[in-house]
Amino acid sequence: MLTLAVLARSMGEWKGVPMLLILFILFITHVTTTNAIASKLNRFVPQDNYLLSCGASAAVKLDDGRAFRSDPDSVSFLSTPTDIKIAAKTSLAAASPLSPLYLAARVFSEISTYSFFISQPGRHWIRLYFSPIPDSQYNLTTATFSVSTDNMVLLHDFSFIANPPNPVVREYLVLAQGDNLKIIFTPKKNSMAFINAIEVVSAPPSLIPNTTTRLGPQDQFDISNNALQVVYRLNMGGALVTSFNDTLGRTWLPDAPFLKLEATAEAAWVPPGTIKYPDDNTITPLIAPASIYSTAQQMASTNTTNARFNITWQMVAEPGFRYLIRLHFSDIVSKALNSLFFNVYVNGMMGVANLDLSSLTMGLAVAYYKDLIVESSSIINSTLVVQVGLGTTDSGEPNAILNGLEIMKISNEASSLDGLFSPQTSSQVGKRTLTGIAIALAVTAALAVVICFRRSRKPAWQKTNSFHSWFLPLNSSHSFMSSCSKLSRSRFGSTRTKSGFSSVFASSAYGLGRYFTFVEIQKATKNFEEKGVLGVGGFGKVYLGSTEDGTKLAIKRGNPSSDQGMNEFLTEIQMLSKLRHRHLVSLIGCCDENKEMILVYEFMSNGPLRDHLYGDTNIKPLSWKQRLEVCIGAAKGLHYLHTGSAQGIIHRDVKTTNILLDENFVAKVADFGLSKDAPSLEQTHVSTVVKGSFGYLDPEYFRRQQLTDKSDVYSFGVVLFEVLCARPAINPALPRDQVSLAEWARTWHRKGDLSKIIDPHIAAQIRPDSLEMFAEAADKCLADYGVDRPSMGDVLWKLEFALQLQQKGDVVDGTSDGVPMKSLEVSNMNSMEKSGTAIPSYVQGR
Ligand SMILES: *[C@@H]1O[C@H](CO)[C@@H](O)[C@H](O)[C@H]1NC(C)=O
Ligand SMILES: *[C@@H]1O[C@H](CO)[C@@H](O)[C@H](O)[C@H]1NC(C)=O
Ligand SMILES: *[C@@H]1O[C@H](CO)[C@@H](O)[C@H](O)[C@H]1NC(C)=O
Ligand SMILES: *[C@@H]1O[C@H](CO)[C@@H](O)[C@H](O)[C@H]1NC(C)=O
Repeated sequence: MLTLAVLARSMGEWKGVPMLLILFILFITHVTTTNAIASKLNRFVPQDNYLLSCGASAAVKLDDGRAFRSDPDSVSFLSTPTDIKIAAKTSLAAASPLSPLYLAARVFSEISTYSFFISQPGRHWIRLYFSPIPDSQYNLTTATFSVSTDNMVLLHDFSFIANPPNPVVREYLVLAQGDNLKIIFTPKKNSMAFINAIEVVSAPPSLIPNTTTRLGPQDQFDISNNALQVVYRLNMGGALVTSFNDTLGRTWLPDAPFLKLEATAEAAWVPPGTIKYPDDNTITPLIAPASIYSTAQQMASTNTTNARFNITWQMVAEPGFRYLIRLHFSDIVSKALNSLFFNVYVNGMMGVANLDLSSLTMGLAVAYYKDLIVESSSIINSTLVVQVGLGTTDSGEPNAILNGLEIMKISNEASSLDGLFSPQTSSQVGKRTLTGIAIALAVTAALAVVICFRRSRKPAWQKTNSFHSWFLPLNSSHSFMSSCSKLSRSRFGSTRTKSGFSSVFASSAYGLGRYFTFVEIQKATKNFEEKGVLGVGGFGKVYLGSTEDGTKLAIKRGNPSSDQGMNEFLTEIQMLSKLRHRHLVSLIGCCDENKEMILVYEFMSNGPLRDHLYGDTNIKPLSWKQRLEVCIGAAKGLHYLHTGSAQGIIHRDVKTTNILLDENFVAKVADFGLSKDAPSLEQTHVSTVVKGSFGYLDPEYFRRQQLTDKSDVYSFGVVLFEVLCARPAINPALPRDQVSLAEWARTWHRKGDLSKIIDPHIAAQIRPDSLEMFAEAADKCLADYGVDRPSMGDVLWKLEFALQLQQKGDVVDGTSDGVPMKSLEVSNMNSMEKSGTAIPSYVQGR
């Protein structure tokens, strides 16, 4: 079919209309013959079928009969500025138990693209094969790179350092929309990318439906534009099934390693020839071959008579992603029709109640499958749990079965299957070709600059291991200890005093922290009592501590096992040592005894802002005026972060759970664990790791991976709408147009109907001019491009104005919303502060 399409293109150009007729006839014969062959052999003949062995000098023929083209041939698909191919040494190759596909590779030091002609748009499999071949010149174990298509990120910063199993096959089902599918390899800065083999193969159109039922909401969810990554494909109660037995080249693993309790399950088997597929062709061997339907796990018979229990399989899922779960069934255990009824649960929720296969398939040993979508919000502890157990109908044999299971990750809102980066360069390049010569020239110029820049840089990755250390400069507790000790000498006072807690407050009154002994910390936290845990983060736990005189502290205990946590910890302490402001949570001191990493903060008795908006019914929601004051406080804290130090600091994780309230409801910005100094001009503007929380993340940061203080402004805009509407930034349970608060609120604001969606608790209090000023501030923060967003200083000004409008109204109307004099005084003080000095006081700290 590929050759036919190519033929059609070339001939169509010079022969014109009569040729179309010939082609049509050719096409008809082609289609009929392939279909005939396909149905006779029960084989699928894919329209597009590219199998490449990258870097190999000769074609690689696999045992299943598939031939992978060698590199001289496959190179015609590749565009790369570098031309490096490597192969395993012959001695090694002979001894290797690995598939011959892993014995050669192509290595890229710069962005490189494979392009495939697509004869029929639709879903295509992409399978990528990776194994770091030992090589004296290139240490592929350390290679770190990303892989994307034109519009989908497949892998982000992938490396074998972080992914020890070797080799790795990644399998995707992507949508090829045009006549070309690109696979783009992008090495991380100073590193390289590599690939051993690639498959790009048409998938049968019926394989993946356009919509599927969501577990929980029970509505139909559209996945027609999403890409999928197959993460698990299991053959219950059966053996390994490979491309030998599956015409679609799929691999199905035995399920035993995923069973929570092997004793609960008992394998069932019938000869594969027994399996029937429905006559209406709704299910064919392309959905799953008979070798899958002919085996199953059923409830272990020793147990079925007495106890009700489930067979449970546990798999790992990545938080933040939806999953498509496909359950394969075929009743190979019953002796009569309508004697098997069972329940299927996914993540503790009812997936199918009283599944009655006989009624659905009108027979025994007939293939059937059921798809479900699991929302990311129901994924707890990174676990997907599939269970089958007895139904509620008591008739029939007490049994439950599962024959096969496929688990596919669904691409997220950032068009990614790995992290939160959107694909960048390629799709933009694709659009540019349409927009004329001027832009083309500009792009060429820009590319020239990029290339010059690249060339001038010495490729550090050629030296084995050199970039690894470049990556992780802070990797030992030693560096923490020295910074804590340094701090304890400078800002936390000169010696490690053994005195009691009272001195803490004596020194903190002067804006200085101090060093704590581990014993002091143990005493304060009742030896890290679990009851006292206030929260858990990437770095470890936060405990409520209290001193002998009853003063409360928030004590963060680092978890030394994670490098990530250590880095965040170090960032935080470095950051906080520079910062002090009324609207930032204060660091009181630290402790590094016994290799512990402990930070001691002031305790914020009213907890996170979010709790005072929604979710906690025991807490009275804040009044509108209180909300304005809280927003103003948080804005002051952020403004200080952005402008208060020479370099400026970007918070990177602004959200309502990172704005804390003290006993007087004064807002303080917390959690600088994710903060990072704003890049100065000499440094790269490309941030290496996406940090932040979904729903608050600046879309421009997705597109360009460029971090500015305007990313915080965007997140703060989301916070403002959250304060106004009292709902989460992302709520996947809502209809599509309401899922993202930022989009939803902006739509209503544009319609001039914002008052319809504000929190009913405050609706009666808000004066329209105050609301409009507030909403305008929030809306501007959410501008698509950072340059169009206001600075935190501007936002602050607008919020203070919104508060003034509200108060003026209250004075004129004589109305009160229940928090009168005190808050009025506080805010009057704020505006006096502001007007009284040329440089606003909040810039200078306290
Ligand atoms: C490649 O790098 C990894 C990780 O740093 C290291 O463990 C390995 O020994 C290196 N291999 C070679 C051949 O240098
Ligand atoms: C796979 O196919 C081979 C050859 O046709 C057959 O011998 C084998 O039993 C099949 N395996 C399974 C698990 O069905
Ligand atoms: C089976 O699992 C479901 C969901 O986790 C649970 O609600 C049910 O109680 C379990 N049944 C038995 C008998 O343990
Ligand atoms: C999460 O995993 C941990 C460790 O495996 C376990 O102790 C905890 O109970 C789990 N929590 C839930 C809600 O399943």
